[in-house]
Amino acid sequence: MTLPRVFVTRLIPAAGLDLVTAACQAEVWPDELPPSRQALLERVRGVDGLLCLLTDRIDAEVMDAAGPQLKVISNHAVGVDNIDVAAATARRIPVGNTPGILTDATADMAFALLLAAGRRIVEGTREVRSGGWKTWGPSYLLGADFAGATLGIVGFGRIGRAVARRAAGFGMRILYYDPASAAPEPGLDATPVDLDTLLRESDFVSIHTPLNEQTRHLVNADFLAKMKPTAVLVNTSRGAVVDQEALYQALKSRRIFAAGLDVTDPEPPPLDSPLLELDNLTIVPHIASATWRTRSQMARMAAENLLAGLRGERLPNCVNPEVYS
Ligand code: GLV
Repeated sequence: MTLPRVFVTRLIPAAGLDLVTAACQAEVWPDELPPSRQALLERVRGVDGLLCLLTDRIDAEVMDAAGPQLKVISNHAVGVDNIDVAAATARRIPVGNTPGILTDATADMAFALLLAAGRRIVEGTREVRSGGWKTWGPSYLLGADFAGATLGIVGFGRIGRAVARRAAGFGMRILYYDPASAAPEPGLDATPVDLDTLLRESDFVSIHTPLNEQTRHLVNADFLAKMKPTAVLVNTSRGAVVDQEALYQALKSRRIFAAGLDVTDPEPPPLDSPLLELDNLTIVPHIASATWRTRSQMARMAAENLLAGLRGERLPNCVNPEVYS
């Protein structure tokens, strides 16, 4: 029996990779960096399945380079903005993703950034290491209060709601904005508002939208101008949801107090990016889902989607179920 051919675009945790290599003739890209465009186009030729990462742009050209036998594209991520899903649907190729399992890890990181940016953790560390810390000071490194403050959540899906649960534990008032008007969870005291109200009233704003044409540069100069000057912005969604030039200006001019980013556009930002000079920006390298358990579960889920697609079965987590109708 010939095993299906697949290309896996990076070494993923063994919990998923072992399932793939046991059932497929798998080529696994071994490098730390993603395959170049050219390498990707070459490696996909003739494969039955593709297991890819958010760092791979999977568009019609890649699908056509693979060929008409391509049965499944499985993304090792919940966000699928790196994939042209419409092009996959037009070719009746199901696209899989990894929702749910990274909700808590991502919400933890959003909260870590809210705390780090609001309480100046990285700035404080820098002070200690550089000798800037001379003595305890009554007005030294003052930051934002959490208890009694208002958190505005933009995008109230799984991750937004998980951030709200954490905020409730900190005694915060919770507002949310979601054009899909997701209902709050029972027992969670969160109020739906329009975006302007959220920006006007929130001391902290946390972004949890997918990246699409409606949300690209949603956080622009106008958005930032509506925030309180004492407010903190956190983004753990996708870098391009924020207009980074506008964010730079808002932070530099202290139009807002601070920001925390897990994601940027591009990733990584160039080392000469002015953003990296700002003391009031806390920035980490897209690691919101980077916990041992979460990454193993993501790898397993991505493998299960891939293998189901290869068997001609419905993917356990499919973003374009219309391919089955
Ligand atoms: C990570 O950013 C993901 O979309 O899974």
